[in-house]
Amino acid sequence: QGTTQGFAHAKAILFGEHAVVYGSPAVAVPLHGLGVQTDIRRSPHQETRIESQLFSGNAQTAPEPMGPVVAGLNAALKAAGNPDAEVELLIRSAIPHSRGLGSSAAVATSVARAVANLHATVFDENTLHEIVQAAETVAHGRPSGIDAWAVAKPAPIRFQTGCAQTIDVGQRLVFVLADSGHHGSTAEAVGGVRARRDADPVRIGGMIDRLAEITDSAVDNIRSGDRGAIGALMNEAHGLLGSLGVSTPTLDSLVDAATAAGAWGAKLTGGGLGGCVLALADDDDSAEELAEALRKAGAPRTWTTEVRPT
Ligand code: PMV
Repeated sequence: QGTTQGFAHAKAILFGEHAVVYGSPAVAVPLHGLGVQTDIRRSPHQETRIESQLFSGNAQTAPEPMGPVVAGLNAALKAAGNPDAEVELLIRSAIPHSRGLGSSAAVATSVARAVANLHATVFDENTLHEIVQAAETVAHGRPSGIDAWAVAKPAPIRFQTGCAQTIDVGQRLVFVLADSGHHGSTAEAVGGVRARRDADPVRIGGMIDRLAEITDSAVDNIRSGDRGAIGALMNEAHGLLGSLGVSTPTLDSLVDAATAAGAWGAKLTGGGLGGCVLALADDDDSAEELAEALRKAGAPRTWTTEVRPT
């Protein structure tokens, strides 16, 4: 009774992670099969309560990992013109956290959408983005902002210096995502790349420039639907990310397994040092074979996702 919902999906970075920190472009794809739902209602008690996998209870006593959710909720209530409202939230997420899948941004987006629905309004995309960035700043310090856009947009995006544009997809693309089983540490990975760049600005700067070129060529190839070219760019990007120090033996072996199983290309996705590998399959049948090969190679779970021409 009086309950409304908000949804958001996970995301994967297809190209440009790490380079995006230095102003280069990046491409992210939505993972529609993997999402978060938030149910919200006005609280019958004199307090705001949150129920989630991580914590259930009064929002004021929520532990630190809930900080981004509380920040997002407060920003959303303020944007809805009802900053002092007491609400009850039920957050159900299928997105594993610390895997580079945008779980924190997706939770904040679903909360913001639920708040908007409760007030019979819709936040325009910039307002939604600001709410989610308020949560992401608590979660990640200085996020580039790509996650906040990527979990809110239904199509692939090209992101650069705070702005996101939808990419027109030329041909259906099927991706398999494989969990390495290890938490990624984006903050550690970003810090490691920065240290390498400070120590050797010319060589590392050249790699970052090449990642930017790869991303822009990939955008053209996504538009024209050239899977061979996209796959080759994914392989090259994985090699460069390895040279930047953010791959691991587990991620490398999953990429090798994907290549051996016939993927057009494969790479780590997101911050690295754990997290997931993304592989481009030929079609639905080969995606199934690819997923099986990745699980045999040690991935505890895989997901399949597609992007479609609009
Ligand atoms: O691990 P993720 O998916 O949150 O991605 C991090 C992407 C980086 O480029 C490494 C960092 C950033 O803030 O964009």
